[in-house]
Amino acid sequence: MSDTAFTPRIFSGIKPSGGLTLGNYLGAIKRFVASQGGEFETIYCVVDMHAITVWQDPADLRTATREVAAGYLAAGIDPSKSILFNQSRVSAHAELGWLFNCVARVGWMNRMTQFKDKAGKNSENVSLGLYAYPSLMAADILTYHATHVPVGEDQKQHVELTRDIAKKFNHDYKVDFFPETIPVIEGPAMRVMNLRDGTKKMSKSGESDMERINMLDDAATIAKKFKKARTDPEPLPEHYDGLAERPEARNLVNIYAALADVTNEQVIAEFGGEGWGKFKPALADLAVDKLAPISEEMQRLMNDPAEIDRIMEQGAEKARAIAEPILAKTFDIMGFVR
Ligand code: TRP
Repeated sequence: MSDTAFTPRIFSGIKPSGGLTLGNYLGAIKRFVASQGGEFETIYCVVDMHAITVWQDPADLRTATREVAAGYLAAGIDPSKSILFNQSRVSAHAELGWLFNCVARVGWMNRMTQFKDKAGKNSENVSLGLYAYPSLMAADILTYHATHVPVGEDQKQHVELTRDIAKKFNHDYKVDFFPETIPVIEGPAMRVMNLRDGTKKMSKSGESDMERINMLDDAATIAKKFKKARTDPEPLPEHYDGLAERPEARNLVNIYAALADVTNEQVIAEFGGEGWGKFKPALADLAVDKLAPISEEMQRLMNDPAEIDRIMEQGAEKARAIAEPILAKTFDIMGFVR
């Protein structure tokens, strides 16, 4: 295709529907922090308009939006290095989303597996927004001409749809305007599983609070949850392969490795042959060490919502400066008189 040079730019977003967990931290935010200040311009968003694809109580949406913003900040997203804001402050997302609704095909949307999973038997009764959501996600990405999007495996199909929208737009209007964004997929070891059932993803909506670590949990709660995490009766194996059929044990080793910034094999080299009586307290200490300062800072920010809102508005101003000219050019290419 083209060799148009696009500025290397990362965009990613987290939905404020409920609180943040260790899964959001290790799977997303920690990676976002590490990408700052390098070869990429980094844009991180609290995608509040995506949250309302399913019902959100207004007070809960307000709290969750600030909580995700506080989580980003407490974990090390630096507003002087990254653009950090909530989506609804930048109207270009919604406007480009509409334009893309007229580019994307119904047949493409019908193939989205996440919609099928979420709608299930209820597909006649979910919001039209839930169905159109990937087109808004494409607008989030393309209104910044983002070249790379770090996401979990579950979002890969949506980034591919984003590429299809970009290609069809470029083709239909005979331009070379939108980049073909590359999805940067997290490794499977970064998928944090439920502390009570290692075959399920750690989620903010599971029924028991003991199955997840919330980014707002304090030190005592973090330690207690790891000490009570489900395991099996065997000691840790001498090789990482020995965890293949032991999902709970494997999850705790993966979490240890991610928190300590070492490989899974290095964790096994240190703890192979040891029982849980040794490993769990070591994991609890490490987790408290790494996570408690983040939850304390998050709590401090949550007690000062005006400060969070001020930072989000400053980020939104910088976001608009990139998004609005790209949106204006899109309208122009399509023949709008404005
Ligand atoms: N759909 C993503 C999720 O559910 C969130 C999201 C919205 C996003 N817009 C995005 C992620 C743009 C990356 C880029 O997790």
